[in-house]
Amino acid sequence: MARGHAPAVSIEHLRVIRGKRPALHDFSVQIAQGTITGLLGPSGCGKTTLMRSIVGSQILKSGTVTVLGRPAGSPALRRRVGYMPQDPTIYNDLRIVDNVRYFASLYGFDSRAADAAIDRVGLTDHRTAFSGNLSGGQRTRASLACALVCQPELLVLDEPTVGLDPVLRVDLWEQFTELARTGTTLLVSSHVMDEADHCGDLLLMREGHLVAHTTPTRLREDTGCTSLEDAFLSIINRSTKQKAV
Ligand SMILES: Nc1ncnc2c1ncn2[C@@H]1O[C@H](COP(=O)(O)OP(=O)(O)OP(=O)(O)O)[C@@H](O)[C@H]1O
Ligand SMILES: [Mg+2]
Repeated sequence: MARGHAPAVSIEHLRVIRGKRPALHDFSVQIAQGTITGLLGPSGCGKTTLMRSIVGSQILKSGTVTVLGRPAGSPALRRRVGYMPQDPTIYNDLRIVDNVRYFASLYGFDSRAADAAIDRVGLTDHRTAFSGNLSGGQRTRASLACALVCQPELLVLDEPTVGLDPVLRVDLWEQFTELARTGTTLLVSSHVMDEADHCGDLLLMREGHLVAHTTPTRLREDTGCTSLEDAFLSIINRSTKQKAV
């Protein structure tokens, strides 16, 4: 654990079945408070399932998921945990500003908080656009503003930078870093390995298992690779060979 506090998320022996097949196998991990933890792994390895388990929207077969000291999904966590699902969940027939105000009002925040969240994701110029008319990246950002607006202690972001241009991605990662600096814990999934360098901790997953809980520096040291993409492939290959013997 990177800091001296209780973990923000503690998962013990979690098993999840999806579509009759195991999606997470005896999965245990602790996520430190006030860090950005990157969740990386091939498509279908269980990243979204893990995030759903943490925010309390996934049926668990067995094991425990404790979030900010309480069982995942507890009513008391609703104001303390923000979630941006992989598929943007905004109302197409509402303007961006009304979508974000709606989420703000659910958490007891006013329209100024909504405007600040819209500004954070760079959508101020589009705030009155109807959500149904947005590009893919704009929809992602609007959905991110809805997750940010309640100023949660834990932010769970499922591929928040997909479809965003490099300038915006850098800008968002700067904001994530600033949020972590001021005490927010972030769990961020990504397919883009160069984004892993923005993370304090890395969880590398494969086929429902955690294959490494590491940091970008340690991952490079352990594999001898400079590129995180190569380092990740090396870990995946190693875990495949271990499985074969
Ligand atoms: N709605 C569903 N019904 C049945 N099985 C599902 C469902 N969603 C996911 N699964 C299965 O659960 C496993 C884990 O999927 P999950 O969505 O967690 O992966 P992921 O790592 O988030 O993938 P991606 O990177 O493509 O988003 C996969 O084998 C997938 O086929
Ligand atoms: Mg996913």
